[in-house]
Amino acid sequence: MELLLTDPLDMHLHLREGEMLRTVAPLSAKDFAAGVIMPNLQQPVDSLVRLLAYRDEVGKALSQYLFTPLMTLFFKNYSEKELLEARPHILGIKLYPAGITTQSESGVRDIRGAYKTFELLEELRIPLLVHGESNGFVMDREREFISVYQQVARDFPQLHLIMEHITTADAVRFLDSSDKVSATVTLHHLLITLDDVAGNMLEPDLFCKPIAKTPHDRETLRQAVFSGHPRLMFGSDSAPHPRHKKECCGCAAGIFSAPVALPLLAQMFEEQGCLDKLQGFVSDIAKQRYGLPEFGKTVRLSKENWKVPELYDTVRPFYAGQTLQWTATI
Ligand code: DOR
Ligand code: ZN
Repeated sequence: MELLLTDPLDMHLHLREGEMLRTVAPLSAKDFAAGVIMPNLQQPVDSLVRLLAYRDEVGKALSQYLFTPLMTLFFKNYSEKELLEARPHILGIKLYPAGITTQSESGVRDIRGAYKTFELLEELRIPLLVHGESNGFVMDREREFISVYQQVARDFPQLHLIMEHITTADAVRFLDSSDKVSATVTLHHLLITLDDVAGNMLEPDLFCKPIAKTPHDRETLRQAVFSGHPRLMFGSDSAPHPRHKKECCGCAAGIFSAPVALPLLAQMFEEQGCLDKLQGFVSDIAKQRYGLPEFGKTVRLSKENWKVPELYDTVRPFYAGQTLQWTATI
């Protein structure tokens, strides 16, 4: 069995820098036509100069591939001039609440204080991508943040607001109720629950932010995806960390899923009898929501077993050592 996907897109991706970038970026670029590149580097990508330098570094790592990095700027209060200059080079601005995840210390502490920039984003039609978690109890963080999404959607009705990596039934309910808002969902949140992370021996490779939630949450996300929700897009949130940052005291959050993303999605959609919905989920919905062009790449998914490597250099991938039923090639 074979399936051809047109322009698969990863709408939320961490490529990192330096050695790590050179290891992981080709694994995304092989399977995807484009990806939305997160700006939470050690020095956040929060100026056009930094963004262009980072895009160059990504481009060099990927010179062999047909892959477009869709760049994002780290949220801060930008002037209109800065936003106008950046606009041709970015897909959107990524907002992190301060300290909520990896490299987010310089994120936003006060949403009201960000309103001037939200107004500009709305006016200039620049999308706002949000890591939507409060700093409350870890299982409640996304639910608590929904009131912020609600407030921003109400106060800036023309702003394209994207709830990144949603993990809960509450987030799906909010998405259903608000046709201006879009969302991304990861592969891992469609597959695992908190039990997989901490129900038996602690599994550092499944520790991520937002933390995986309950079976009910996972089921609600799956139903939204498999039914072809018109505003829910695939974003892997593939977030590599070297072994020594995972197997240690103070394990870093992040699941490295890039090499297995398309094969596992195909497997999951096939099991659900809805392979016909995969093209929408990994490409068409995102193109429509963001107004993206055609990238002209076709990726072939074939029903052929392969074994996921234990390691890619220093990084352990999601499903390491397991045999997958689908293979992606161009
Ligand atoms: O698990 C995560 N890892 N969640 C994030 O939001 C950031 C990411 C990272 O950069 O490692
Ligand atoms: Zn992320």
